[in-house]
Amino acid sequence: MARTRIKDILSGGTTGARYKVCGWVRTRRDSKGGFSFIELNDGSCMENLQLIADAQTADYEGTVLRLQPGCSLEVEGLLQASPGKGQRVELKVEALRVFGWADPEHYPLQKKRHSFEFLRTIAHLRPRTNTFGAVARVRNAVSHAIHTFFQERGFLYVHTPIITGSDCEGAGDLFHITTFDLGAVPIEEGRVDFSEDFFGQPANLTVSGQLEAEIYALALGDVYTFGPTFRAENSNTSRHLAEFWMVEPEMAFCELEGDMDLAVEFLQYLFRHVLDHCRGDLEFFNRFIDQSVIGTLETLATQDFERLSYTEAIEILSKSGEEFEFPVAWGTDLQSEHERYLCEKTFKKPVILTDYPKTIKPFYMKLNPDGKTVRAMDVLVPKIGEIIGGSQREDDYDTLLQRIEESGLHVDDYWWYLDLRRFGSTPHAGFGLGLERLVQFITGMGNIRDVIPFPRTPGNLNF
Ligand code: 4AD
Ligand code: MG
Repeated sequence: MARTRIKDILSGGTTGARYKVCGWVRTRRDSKGGFSFIELNDGSCMENLQLIADAQTADYEGTVLRLQPGCSLEVEGLLQASPGKGQRVELKVEALRVFGWADPEHYPLQKKRHSFEFLRTIAHLRPRTNTFGAVARVRNAVSHAIHTFFQERGFLYVHTPIITGSDCEGAGDLFHITTFDLGAVPIEEGRVDFSEDFFGQPANLTVSGQLEAEIYALALGDVYTFGPTFRAENSNTSRHLAEFWMVEPEMAFCELEGDMDLAVEFLQYLFRHVLDHCRGDLEFFNRFIDQSVIGTLETLATQDFERLSYTEAIEILSKSGEEFEFPVAWGTDLQSEHERYLCEKTFKKPVILTDYPKTIKPFYMKLNPDGKTVRAMDVLVPKIGEIIGGSQREDDYDTLLQRIEESGLHVDDYWWYLDLRRFGSTPHAGFGLGLERLVQFITGMGNIRDVIPFPRTPGNLNF
């Protein structure tokens, strides 16, 4: 008999029919009448399937009564309406086979609430908990919807490289990669001689696929890339990872307004998608993690976002009378406390800030006629702050060359990027959405380490 997923049994199983299911025991409860209730979960949904096994089940004493949380089973039985509260159906066990036992003395996930900090130390077992199962399913649904959104709109999925020789953001937070024996790095006149290294030049893990995505946008129109990115930022916050996933659309013949419109449409599509496809998991988050998540998603799926300039935001923050930890002044980067103030206190909705000072943004953003600000846009949301960063790109050769030089980057490294402004340059724009920040926002999870299966942060590389 083929195996059926518990999700399908709970949503559409026929009572009176026989099913085979496999999964892990969450709990066992024995009744005085000589039978046991077993809650089985197979990860297909939040809910467990209730099994009933009685003395007629082969080896009741030796097998059923030994079942503990974490044991893995295969069960065949008859689906019947459940007389008990809390479930519509239950499976009357006819045959039961244990694949793997789980010693209750040592299995860490006994039935009680564990802190997220503790669960991070057992990242190999935490997906078996309600919370981490739900996070994994939401993350999966969002990833799928990201592709669907772009594919439905004719965007081409481009695979940009993980290993690169350039630094897109110019922020210098690079992980260098090498095959050198680090105890015997060749030094030539006091400097590392990279000509002997694997690529014959310095190499690093990408911080963004944007520059390569631009190449494809300037040939194919609308493209996107979606992959892992790496930043050696030494910031131990609840919103930073050293390895995170970013989705980056890039559109030719598009300016900042079109870029912002796409960002709003994209987020609204993703909010609607999870509301329609992850109901059970969202209800769980709404009940146990953050009681505002479903209401917020419902509102944001249709409500437009506030749009204003960085300069206007600075004015609002300066006049707010609020005591911020970091002072507010034109020319300094906004901190998440400022971003959250604008979303949570001033506008009570997501905010898109535009036209930041060029000095706090990367070289590739299009310079405004004022010579001081660039066509940047950051999408800020309550509780998280920045969730998307994007811009219109500098498409003028001379201005770009000057910006690369001003930013202290090596012009030679960007010859191909400059070439795109020599041959058939066009206005173009794009943005980057951090997948983990989005999943945090959707689920209400407080720490970014809990929305990626295996978080990489300073000093932490387990699993
Ligand atoms: O604002 P950022 O740095 O923009 C870029 O990388 C552009 N190249 C994107 C583009 O225009 N194609 O990063 C984009 C988003 C941020 O808004 C944030 O959501 C996320 O990536 N992000 C991080 N997420 C987790 N951990 C980190 N250390 C992150 N750094 C950025
Ligand atoms: Mg940014």
